Amino acid sequence: GTPVRVALLGCGTVGTEVVRLLTGQAADLAARVGAPVELVGVAVRRADRHRDVPAGLLTTDALGLVSRDDVDVVVEVVGGIEPTRQWLLAALRAGKSVVTANKALLAEAQGELFAAADASGADLYFEAAVAGAIPLLRPLRESLAGDRITRVMGIVNGTTNFILSAMEETGAGYQEALSEAARLGYAEADPTADVDGYDAAAKAAILASLAFHTRVTMGDVHREGISAVTPADVLAARALDRTIKLLAICERVVGEDGTESVSARVHPAMIPRSHPLAGVGGAFNAVFVEAEAAGQLMFYGQGAGGAPTASAVLGDLVAVARNRVAGGRGPRESAYADLAARPIAQA
Ligand code: HSE
Repeated sequence: GTPVRVALLGCGTVGTEVVRLLTGQAADLAARVGAPVELVGVAVRRADRHRDVPAGLLTTDALGLVSRDDVDVVVEVVGGIEPTRQWLLAALRAGKSVVTANKALLAEAQGELFAAADASGADLYFEAAVAGAIPLLRPLRESLAGDRITRVMGIVNGTTNFILSAMEETGAGYQEALSEAARLGYAEADPTADVDGYDAAAKAAILASLAFHTRVTMGDVHREGISAVTPADVLAARALDRTIKLLAICERVVGEDGTESVSARVHPAMIPRSHPLAGVGGAFNAVFVEAEAAGQLMFYGQGAGGAPTASAVLGDLVAVARNRVAGGRGPRESAYADLAARPIAQA
């Protein structure tokens, strides 16, 4: 079939893996999609720093790249809110499908992005934005779309889980564990996004929005990070046969008068060592989803790192490419708008 032409924005830890998978598995991807998936450009900040990408593909003009007529799909792994928001809006408005790993942007501007996607009929997929390799958003958006979700709770930040696990298992200092998490490619460019809970709060906003068909933004999420957790706290928890985990908790709340609202919060919690979340170590993530008909589901796997996150990006890319080949599109989001005014209960 006609090739699906892809522009990649960003070529850091995740982007490098995306290029590797996209080029290394080109034949398999073409077979799965029903058409070749071709990388036609890669926007980077410094073109001289990417020897592993063919020089002819590199550009420093991201807006120019997304605006090209020969681009069908834009994959964004740059992060940050501006100017990324402008690039993705330009792509969506032009009817180009977007695959993004950008949790901060989605937590801030999902309404605007979904509206642009719905107006032009483009796809907006973002599995990699929450819990890395773990298929979680697709189940919330699609598999559970006929059910009523009541709660989504779990560990969604690999860096802080790595730090807390290291403090508990090896008695490592906080700073030492953080440096190691950064070295392994788990931490955000600015690791305060991890340790102060902003990263987890953005993910909680995305999870709550999808689970409860409403719009929860970063500002709606109660947020407390792990920077105040001391080695003494870790020892005290252990003495109580408990462990400290940074949890994201999103719940449907029914008030006394029957009105429904959504609560989303991120904070360290002491949980019994017998709890399944207590055994989640390293940069792994684990998320429980409770739905009225399905009951309790658990999602577990690698939540951070270049290759696991790239796996989720590639899965989305295959999905949007298949939609294009079939002349259709994935889930519409306009159905969410009518619930946007729901009050958000704070913790
Ligand atoms: N910094 C994030 C984490 C990367 O540690 O979980 C994945 O979103």
